[in-house]
Amino acid sequence: MNGLRGLLSFMYIFLRLLLCIIPNRLYEMLRKLLRQGNEYHTREQYISIARSYLKELGTKCFVGSCVMEIGSGNQIETASCLLENGAKQVIVVDPIINPRLSQSGSLVVVEASCFNEEIAHRYARSIDVLVSFQVLEHVRDVPLFMRCVAEVLTPNGIFFARVDVSDHIYHGIKPLMSVLNVPTEVIRCKYLEYSDSFYRRIHPHKRVYMNRCVLPEILQAMDDAGLKWQLQGRYLTHNNVIYPDIVKRVSAKYSQYTQAYWFTLRGSRDEAPPA
Ligand SMILES: C[S@@+](CC[C@H](N)C(=O)[O-])C[C@H]1O[C@@H](n2cnc3c(N)ncnc32)[C@H](O)[C@@H]1O
Repeated sequence: MNGLRGLLSFMYIFLRLLLCIIPNRLYEMLRKLLRQGNEYHTREQYISIARSYLKELGTKCFVGSCVMEIGSGNQIETASCLLENGAKQVIVVDPIINPRLSQSGSLVVVEASCFNEEIAHRYARSIDVLVSFQVLEHVRDVPLFMRCVAEVLTPNGIFFARVDVSDHIYHGIKPLMSVLNVPTEVIRCKYLEYSDSFYRRIHPHKRVYMNRCVLPEILQAMDDAGLKWQLQGRYLTHNNVIYPDIVKRVSAKYSQYTQAYWFTLRGSRDEAPPA
C-alpha cells in the first residue's frame, strides 16, 4: 500500500506540473479534444441538474418562485427547465456567462458577474430558492458568499448547493484509475495532502480556481452568516491524510466531516429548518 501511495503521489505531482507548464492554448485544445465541447456539461446534463433540484426540493417549491442559480457556467438550459416547471423568474449569476443569453423576455435575467455584495443588495430578501451545482468549491471567498446568500433569501427561502470537493484532476484520470484498479478513495482528496504553499506551486491555474475549503469551513461560514443548514452526502472520518495546514483551519466542532468529497447542503435564513 505504501508503494502504491508513493507511486500515486509521484504521478499526481508529475501530472500537475505538466498541466502547469503546457501553454493555455494547447491545454484548451486538449480539453476540447477530450470533451468535444466548450461547456462543462451537455444540454441534457444541464436539464438533468434542474430535474435533480426539482426532485430534491419538490416541484411545489419552485411554482411561482423567484429562483437564483449561481455559477451556471455559460448556459441557461437549467434555468429554462425550472421556468417550464413553474418558476416565476430565474436569475442566473456567473462571471463567464454571455449576457446576451437573457433573451426569453425578462424571465431569465443574466448577471454576468460573481455573486457579490452588489448583486446581494440588488436582490436583497427577494430569492425564494437559490441553487448551485459544483460551484462552492470554486468560490474565492466562501464567508462572503454565505453572507450574500443570507442577504438575498426571503424569510422562508431555501439555499441548495451540490458541492464536489474531490480533486478535479481526479475527474480526468478516473478512467485510468479504474483500469489500474486503484481504490478511488486513495486519489479523490489527494490534493489535501499538501500544504497550501506547495499546492499553490503545483496548481495549474487553468480554467477555474479551486479553493480547497473542506466541509467544516463551509459549515462554519454558514453558521457565521446566520444560515441554518442540513447536510447530505458522503463523509469519511477525519484522518491524517489531510495536511496539518488544513486541519488547523478546521474547528473541532465539525472535524468529523473533514474529508467529505461530495455533499449537498440545504440552508435557510428561517428559524425553522427547511422542510
Ligand atoms: C465547475 S463550474 C460549474 C458550472 C455549472 N454549474 C455546471 O455544473 O456545469 C463552476 C462555475 O462557477 C462559477 N463561479 C465561481 N465562483 C463564482 C462566484 N463567486 N459567483 C458566481 N459564479 C462563480 C465559475 O465561473 C464556473 O462557471
